[in-house]
Amino acid sequence: MLTWDDTPSTTVEPTSTAGARKPHPAVVERAVHGSGPAIAGATGLEDLEMGARRIHVDDKRIINCRADLNQLVPFKYKWAWEKYLAACNNHWMPQEIAMTTDIAQWQDPKGFTEDERIIIKRALGFFSTADSLVANNLVLAVYRHLTNPECRQYLLRQAFEEAIHTHAYQYIIESLGMDEAEVFNMYREIPSIHDKAAWSLPYTQSLADPNFHTGTPEADRRLLRDLVAFYVVFEGIFFYVGFVQLLSFGRRNRLPGATEQIQYIMRDEAMHMNFGIDVINQIKLENPHLWTADFQEEARTMIHEATQLEIRYAHDTMPRGVLGLNAAMFNEYMAFIANRRCAQIGVKEIYPGASNPFPWMSEVLDLKKEKNFFEARVTEYQTGGALSWD
Ligand SMILES: [Fe+2]
Ligand SMILES: [Fe+2]
Repeated sequence: MLTWDDTPSTTVEPTSTAGARKPHPAVVERAVHGSGPAIAGATGLEDLEMGARRIHVDDKRIINCRADLNQLVPFKYKWAWEKYLAACNNHWMPQEIAMTTDIAQWQDPKGFTEDERIIIKRALGFFSTADSLVANNLVLAVYRHLTNPECRQYLLRQAFEEAIHTHAYQYIIESLGMDEAEVFNMYREIPSIHDKAAWSLPYTQSLADPNFHTGTPEADRRLLRDLVAFYVVFEGIFFYVGFVQLLSFGRRNRLPGATEQIQYIMRDEAMHMNFGIDVINQIKLENPHLWTADFQEEARTMIHEATQLEIRYAHDTMPRGVLGLNAAMFNEYMAFIANRRCAQIGVKEIYPGASNPFPWMSEVLDLKKEKNFFEARVTEYQTGGALSWD
């Protein structure tokens, strides 16, 4: 059972480490008497003090924690550590996946219709910059404010996975011989792609402000807004039309290498989103005063706006039906996804009765049904990674 003091901290230490800082008065007090927890600050970069009491699990908090942030154990949030381990077990690299068939199909003038080429290029256009944006939000905005070592351990893994995803898109774009400048600039040139990135930017800009610190209800809600914007919306809504579109090609044995990578990316993204939702729910549990009716309504509005942007993106990328898909199906699908996201963070559904027109998407997430690709490769990594000292 959690027994947290929910009084928000209003004395968050400045994060600057320039020059010799005086120890926090509480640290001096503790060093003399050796009784308090190892209070340090909000970053993990504060000065070390000899003689501090050892960290207890109940010293840990997901935000506004003042206990030492460099000690991974004792674990408090086992779900974060378990996701870190699961993510490591799912490790993959883009260049391990053959693109020969994809290249032959893409270079065949009759391989794809013009509409199909637009869908593929626009999906890659959105994704090619989206994962960098997510990574920048993680390392420049979110990381600083999640004051828990096991969550930070997962964030470090997630940040690397976002790098792998950007690498994968670059690898696909380069392999197929696409115009790289055209694809990578789409978020400045194609309105429906631009609008999704532009929607999310204010949330990370607000948090990345060097003068921003958590510790007041208003500031803590700013952090929660960013988490909803990036984990629930960006990774949980904005990727889904593109995933369905690209995987629909894979289901017809088209672009098998690219769509294999998309499957791995989708599995990673599902875990990122679930991690973010666990973080949001943990913050709620420890800080119930943040989760007001007004704030819940704001989160629903964010999910609603994002769903409409994603539906607009679906219509923009596929004005005519292809591959048994049409834009109208995405209205239903995105409403279904939006309801799921609302339920996951505990707010009221926005589109009652929406159903899933693409049940195969849930099956794709369970890659073990498809092949034991990862099991084979994990063994290989372990063999390749074994050191011999003779
Ligand atoms: Fe990603
Ligand atoms: Fe992600």
